[in-house]
Amino acid sequence: MPIGVLCAMTGEIALLREDMEVTGRETVGGREFLTGRLYGREAVLALSGIGKVAAACAATILLDHFGAETLIFSGTAGGVDPTLRTGDLVVSDRSVQHDVDAIGEALFQVPGYDQPWFDGDQRLTALAAEAAARFFERDMAGEVPTEHLAPFGITRPRVAVGTIASGDQFISEREKNRWLSEHIGNLRCVEMEGAAAAQVCVEFGVPHVILRVISDGANEESAVDFEAFIDQAARYFTRGAVRELIKSL
Ligand code: ADE
Repeated sequence: MPIGVLCAMTGEIALLREDMEVTGRETVGGREFLTGRLYGREAVLALSGIGKVAAACAATILLDHFGAETLIFSGTAGGVDPTLRTGDLVVSDRSVQHDVDAIGEALFQVPGYDQPWFDGDQRLTALAAEAAARFFERDMAGEVPTEHLAPFGITRPRVAVGTIASGDQFISEREKNRWLSEHIGNLRCVEMEGAAAAQVCVEFGVPHVILRVISDGANEESAVDFEAFIDQAARYFTRGAVRELIKSL
């Protein structure tokens, strides 16, 4: 059974697409899924599109139609943990849908669940953290042209494991960032898809992991910082981390 890999944006998926040995292309639900081999393993790769519904839809197709046995969601995120810098990589051990607030439920709890988060897979989380560290220590300097690192001040990025929060909002206000940090335990970063794909994986009983490189500080500068990072750098980080993870599975 294949490994499923999703990214939300072309700037995140670009180099994974180049590396994929494509044997088939199938459009389902308006999305093109590439099947074939990625870093020596049977895989299905797709662009989910942005947001929770897009992510859930793509994840469902990957699991139900393509029979993916594992789901890796990779891309960028806005940093919430103040120790994180642009280029650092976050691996999820749990994820939260930060825009869920249903009547009669705990804040962030999706009705029908008994906790306001989705657990990741411990083995995948550990392997992904090791994989990202390996990419940083062994490969990054030789693989990512300096002109794609220097503008962002990236020298020695680090890996953090923790909670990733997803919502249908681009977070660009310090106030909101602070509120999320106060309300979500061990929150490292925010993005717009991971916890929706996680819910689908939990429902299908398929292990998943979210890998996110910090592109901005989820603050008033984020729109500009994010665009620049997506254009110039994101693709190198998603490829490096996903490659090393797939090779270790
Ligand atoms: N993805 C990257 N940066 C983000 C931000 N600030 N908010 C939501 N998703 C993001």
